[in-house]
Amino acid sequence: MDSAGRVRLGFMGAGNIGSVHMQSFAGLDGVVLAGVADAIPDLASARAGEFGIARVYDSADALLNDETLDAVVIGVPNRWHAPLAVQALKAGKHVLLEKPMALDATAAREIVEAAQASGKALLMGQQYRWKWSSQAVREQVEAGALGTIYTAKAGWMRRKGIPGWGTWFTRKADSGGGPLIDIGVHMLDLALFLMGNPKPVAVSGQTYAAFGPNRRGIGNWGTPDWDGVFDVEDLASAFIRMEDGSTLTLDVSWAVHGETDSAPFVHLMGSDGGASIRGESAAFYTEAFGRPVDIPLPVPVYDEGERVRMGRHFLACVRGDVAPMAPALAGLTNQLVLDGIYQSSQTGREVMLDELTEAYGTNPGRGGVVQ
Ligand SMILES: NC(=O)c1ccc[n+]([C@@H]2O[C@H](COP(=O)([O-])OP(=O)(O)OC[C@H]3O[C@@H](n4cnc5c(N)ncnc54)[C@H](O)[C@@H]3O)[C@@H](O)[C@H]2O)c1
Repeated sequence: MDSAGRVRLGFMGAGNIGSVHMQSFAGLDGVVLAGVADAIPDLASARAGEFGIARVYDSADALLNDETLDAVVIGVPNRWHAPLAVQALKAGKHVLLEKPMALDATAAREIVEAAQASGKALLMGQQYRWKWSSQAVREQVEAGALGTIYTAKAGWMRRKGIPGWGTWFTRKADSGGGPLIDIGVHMLDLALFLMGNPKPVAVSGQTYAAFGPNRRGIGNWGTPDWDGVFDVEDLASAFIRMEDGSTLTLDVSWAVHGETDSAPFVHLMGSDGGASIRGESAAFYTEAFGRPVDIPLPVPVYDEGERVRMGRHFLACVRGDVAPMAPALAGLTNQLVLDGIYQSSQTGREVMLDELTEAYGTNPGRGGVVQ
């Protein structure tokens, strides 16, 4: 902390999402945007100029060795999440880590262990949990308004949205996979969170690549590198069973021929009510007077935005006021489910997630209504 008690924050990665985080934190009190490092030094310098960041480091090591920094935001390609998060935690920094947690569950587990050993906060950058609609639905779920949630559907079907064809996004060694690990992890995380964190125990899934290998379905996130490779999926479909008998269907695509509005969605179906979030709209569903009743949720007149709320929460975690709302164990859980889906797609069989029993030690499953 500086002499005024403000958190001194460093940024590892000054690319697209790095700058989005800088923008969010720049609007918050109690924090100083103190340092930045990027594999492209000119980019780090440009962001430093844009956001008034005092120090530019020539490497991630140099940034992490700066003892004046309390915390770091890690917004680099997926392959570097685990090595840098572990290094940051060992260097005594609190960490806000972009999704997905890592390339696979083995690497994710290393982060969990480093977080536990360091006693520092690790918050997963799952900003969908912080949307106004997610918070409203979660509140009602916690109040029991939906009864027992026995099944849910979640997904994000982009019609034409392959990001950075040929860059790290579409190289499995750097990304870990395609839309499933890129945008599917958001909806998986949100669905499990809204369902009340039931314990996933088995997954079945299939992945496809009908567009990427043919250089179709290109979106506008990132600049294509036509000399690069595309060796990931562009669509995935999965079915996840929880210990309490509840289930989740997950469908994601970067590109597909079909009617889709490209909005991420979660639909919860409970014994007393349902709730849906689709893009910026949300609604509750129930039955009254013998008829179905829909209750739309109005979009707030003023909404500071999910990333600002998440940033403020992270600063409170750094100060030790609260525990991370999307903790390391949630990241590991997501990663185990993703690994299971990829494995199931390869083997053609349902995959049992035995490891989760250990990971979930403190997170009991809920009672179900399965028959
Ligand atoms: N939460 C979200 O909605 C969201 C949205 C987009 C991206 N992301 C995540 O953010 C991460 C970065 O994505 P992006 O779109 O910003 O990519 P990007 O390619 O725009 O930026 C990544 C930056 O990291 C730098 N970099 C690479 N290796 C580095 C290293 N070892 N040390 C320091 N800098 C390094 C690169 O030079 C680049 O500037 C990914 O993990 C991605 O999944 C999250």
